[in-house]
Amino acid sequence: MVASDHHIGARHKAEATAIEYLWPHSNDLEWDEYTERGLRVFVAGQGSTLTDVQGRSYLDGLAGLFLVNVGHGRTEIGAAMAEQAGRLAYTASSNSTNPATVTLAETIASITPGDLDRVFFCSGGSEAVETALKIAKQAQVLRGYPKRYKVICRRGSYHGQTFGAMSLTSSAKERYFGPFMAGVSKVPSPNHYRNDFGLEGEAGDLMCARYVEQEILALMDEVITGYGRTGAMFAAEHYGVVPDIMTMAKGISSGYAPLGAVAVRREVFEPFTKHGNAINHLLTFGGHAVAAAAASKNIEIIQRENLVARSAEIGRYLLRLADGLRRHPTVGDVRGGKGLLCAIDLVRNKETKQAWGTEHPFIKGLALRTQEQGLITRVWDVLHLAPPLVVTEHEVELAIDIVDRCLTEMEREFADDIS
Ligand SMILES: Cc1ncc(COP(=O)(O)O)c(C=O)c1O
Repeated sequence: MVASDHHIGARHKAEATAIEYLWPHSNDLEWDEYTERGLRVFVAGQGSTLTDVQGRSYLDGLAGLFLVNVGHGRTEIGAAMAEQAGRLAYTASSNSTNPATVTLAETIASITPGDLDRVFFCSGGSEAVETALKIAKQAQVLRGYPKRYKVICRRGSYHGQTFGAMSLTSSAKERYFGPFMAGVSKVPSPNHYRNDFGLEGEAGDLMCARYVEQEILALMDEVITGYGRTGAMFAAEHYGVVPDIMTMAKGISSGYAPLGAVAVRREVFEPFTKHGNAINHLLTFGGHAVAAAAASKNIEIIQRENLVARSAEIGRYLLRLADGLRRHPTVGDVRGGKGLLCAIDLVRNKETKQAWGTEHPFIKGLALRTQEQGLITRVWDVLHLAPPLVVTEHEVELAIDIVDRCLTEMEREFADDIS
């Protein structure tokens, strides 16, 4: 059950020390917002509930950052990691490996679609995207097409914060980090609510597809969508697609260890097997034995507890409840239904679909208020809900209830700004 008073009052020593010494990762909050609100310091987690250093409980509506798929507090993953670390924690990634990593590679090859059966390990999503970019580029050169260096990504997409991945990320700040990688072209995103062509529903999707049709779509980013998040083991399965190169991270280990991977089809791997063509890519922590042990146990739990089917089922329930929020004057659209990934599109004018903008006090206030009510979520132009796949029906009801209440309060406060 979620405790009622989540306001930051007197700071705990760990909260004060965090503000003194820690540089938190950020792509939305400003430093003065951290110093004002403080940083939540969590000390324990169980299922979909997090407990902070002050003893307050929160419903983790984001599964960390879209990744704690099997839920918090899985001691059997901890035991598998401890056992591996005690036996052998690390082997060099360039000229050796270990049984934990070999086993995980075999498992990933068996659960990914089609002949995606060659696996390169790294430490997270951005590294996976960098790796996929390098594989794609080197593969084209090896196949005799050195000029095929272009990369297509979607407008509005997020692929990470390292340089190559950031070059494919729409929100990347050009004024700080530009110029970005050359050769990137951006195509429209299929968005049923705000379509670039003013088209409704599938007609808009088809127009977006036409843009992509002229190019070669080789990369598929399953960093968020993989490992059950969308109600299939991988989102590509919904569309019967076998990508040439597939990146994965996050749910691969449910966050119990930093891990990413890239799986490629046989045809893509084949040119790298010729003498002189070895992949020119080495990451010290790629294929880390303890991370591999965590991931194998995590995948075992996902399969044993049928969490993929559960994600599909509870996801439908979440969407049904979230759909009820459409009666709010500020809820323009609700998207979801494919597993536990739900977006509530917030607008100040339903007719024009005008967004608030992420800096608007309505958005900032809503983010703060939901957290004060004990729900961890993320509020930008859309409010995201992506709890662990073990979330219960009752917890889903609680999450929607909190969003409902907070929206009502904020709408009352900002009544003059809503049209
Ligand atoms: C689709 C997608 N790709 C890549 C990344 C980057 O992953 P990481 O933060 O592990 O580097 C993210 C992270 O949110 C993501 O959502």
